[in-house]
Amino acid sequence: MKILVTGGSGFIGSHIVDALLEQGHHVKIYDIESPKYGQPAEFIKADVMDLVRLVRESVHYDAIYHIAAEANVNRFHDSPFYSNLITSCAAINVCEAARTNGVGRVLLASTEWVYGSDPSNPDVVITEETPMTDNPDHIYTSSKIAAELFFKNYQKMYGLTQTVMRFGIPFGERARPETVTPIFIRKILDNEEITIHGDGSQTRQFIYVKDLAGGCAACLQPQGANEVFNLNGRDRISVVDIIRNLEEILKKKARVTFIEQRSGQFKGRLISSEKAKRLIGWETRFSYREALEAYVRWFVGQESAGKAGGK
Ligand SMILES: NC(=O)c1ccc[n+]([C@@H]2O[C@H](COP(=O)([O-])OP(=O)(O)OC[C@H]3O[C@@H](n4cnc5c(N)ncnc54)[C@H](O)[C@@H]3O)[C@@H](O)[C@H]2O)c1
Repeated sequence: MKILVTGGSGFIGSHIVDALLEQGHHVKIYDIESPKYGQPAEFIKADVMDLVRLVRESVHYDAIYHIAAEANVNRFHDSPFYSNLITSCAAINVCEAARTNGVGRVLLASTEWVYGSDPSNPDVVITEETPMTDNPDHIYTSSKIAAELFFKNYQKMYGLTQTVMRFGIPFGERARPETVTPIFIRKILDNEEITIHGDGSQTRQFIYVKDLAGGCAACLQPQGANEVFNLNGRDRISVVDIIRNLEEILKKKARVTFIEQRSGQFKGRLISSEKAKRLIGWETRFSYREALEAYVRWFVGQESAGKAGGK
């Protein structure tokens, strides 16, 4: 298949490109940044806000993975207008390009944040049937909800075949250095103090980026058409679990200080990816520990090769 990947130069997008290339697809990366990982893919330096270009670049394409967005919520906070343009408005551009060219499938990178963070019952397992929050904490969340709705609108109004992929919190090779796992690795290696709000029992289901990319590739199957999938890690990992695992892998004690819990701190809840297993046969291949070991090996290798920050 001929597949265009917006945001294919980024952290998750570059792994999706790898997974699609492995399956023998022809891949074109559409990004404002050049790819950094030497993949045998075509590259177009262009903006997702440029509809004319998107239409031109997707002629005769079979699928578009729409991965580009402002993924850094701090930058989103500081620059909400532009961030929303490239996160939600660009989703319409992608659908419009697909509609114009008769592209067979569009797939959207969304997030588990659409379920919100203040559950009335934290023990209820979240599935794709769980309604999206009507009380989002962040414009990033609202922007992703809007993007999802635009994808659904294009299905209903124009018959476009679409798939929404709701990602858990990814970690692994090529992660942005300002995310939690690389920050902890760096602090342990440099003997710097790690400050934790509360007792560190808050959990997240971290997903190894290679597993996540495999899930995205699996969504392209016919059974993934016009469906929403949670693509998340198996286990609930607490902040303390991350640190204890890193201490064992790095064979180095962390310096940890526990401070007062933030008010309204989200304790985490369980998000099921059973539907992806049932419909498209996807489940994670790596345990959290195996994935973390692979990532730390890569991170340390990057450090010794002089690429600071594990980027
Ligand atoms: N990283 C996470 O924690 C996380 C969690 C859930 C969902 N997501 C979603 O997954 C997707 C990828 O996230 P990531 O962590 O790989 O982010 P990233 O910042 O590493 O990658 C985003 C890519 O989009 C490109 N891009 C940005 N603006 C563009 C524009 N105007 N035109 C074309 N390309 C543009 C960037 O250059 C970058 O290569 C995003 O949609 C994000 O919202 C990320």
